[in-house]
Amino acid sequence: MERLFTSDGRPLVVRPATPPDAPQVIATVDAVCRERRYMMTDRFTPGPDWQEVLGLVPPSGWKLLLIAECEGRIVGWCRVFAETVSPFARHVADVGIGVIRPYREIGIGTHLLRQAIRSAKKARLEKLTATAFATNERALNLFIGRGFKVTGRRYRQFNLDGRYIDELMLERFL
Ligand SMILES: CC(C)(COP(=O)(O)OP(=O)(O)OC[C@H]1O[C@@H](n2cnc3c(N)ncnc32)[C@H](O)[C@@H]1OP(=O)(O)O)[C@@H](O)C(=O)NCCC(=O)NCCS
Repeated sequence: MERLFTSDGRPLVVRPATPPDAPQVIATVDAVCRERRYMMTDRFTPGPDWQEVLGLVPPSGWKLLLIAECEGRIVGWCRVFAETVSPFARHVADVGIGVIRPYREIGIGTHLLRQAIRSAKKARLEKLTATAFATNERALNLFIGRGFKVTGRRYRQFNLDGRYIDELMLERFL
């Protein structure tokens, strides 16, 4: 396995999640949702795709959940879910990513996304999609820096405590 470090020199492990990781992963995603600033929900309850990548139900279609571990704890994730609704879009997968607050801006998101792109290429997927709040500069820099392009905008798609936020669509061909 490639030895990884944060930009301030802390050892980092990026690996696929396994069933014993499930409680910590759920708590990690939930913590970011509860910030009510970056995610499209304020609580995290694993839906069917998440239950599959956490090993709670049998898999269907190609899915990946990478987790980042630093200083003995799970500090971030990147999930890639291939399209399963349309039989005509199986070459496309959607990406979601997050890092808990104390571990941001030290390159962990970049490592996670880089490895997710590598795995998606290996799986012969052809395109990755993602969405982000238009206000989320860090996420936009992360995706654009890894080759994503902004392809659409849904105006006033969210209302966060009285403040409207546009949603940006991003995609990257592999
Ligand atoms: C978005 C997120 C995953 C990025 O991960 P990270 O580990 O913090 O980011 P990195 O240190 O790898 O930096 C990623 C990019 O953001 C840029 N960046 C870092 N700090 C920044 C800041 N304060 N403002 C704008 N851009 C910033 C970096 O320069 C880098 O861009 P580059 O590749 O062009 O150099 C992470 O900050 C996070 O989880 N935020 C909250 C949840 C979230 O927004 N999830 C994504 C929803 S779409």
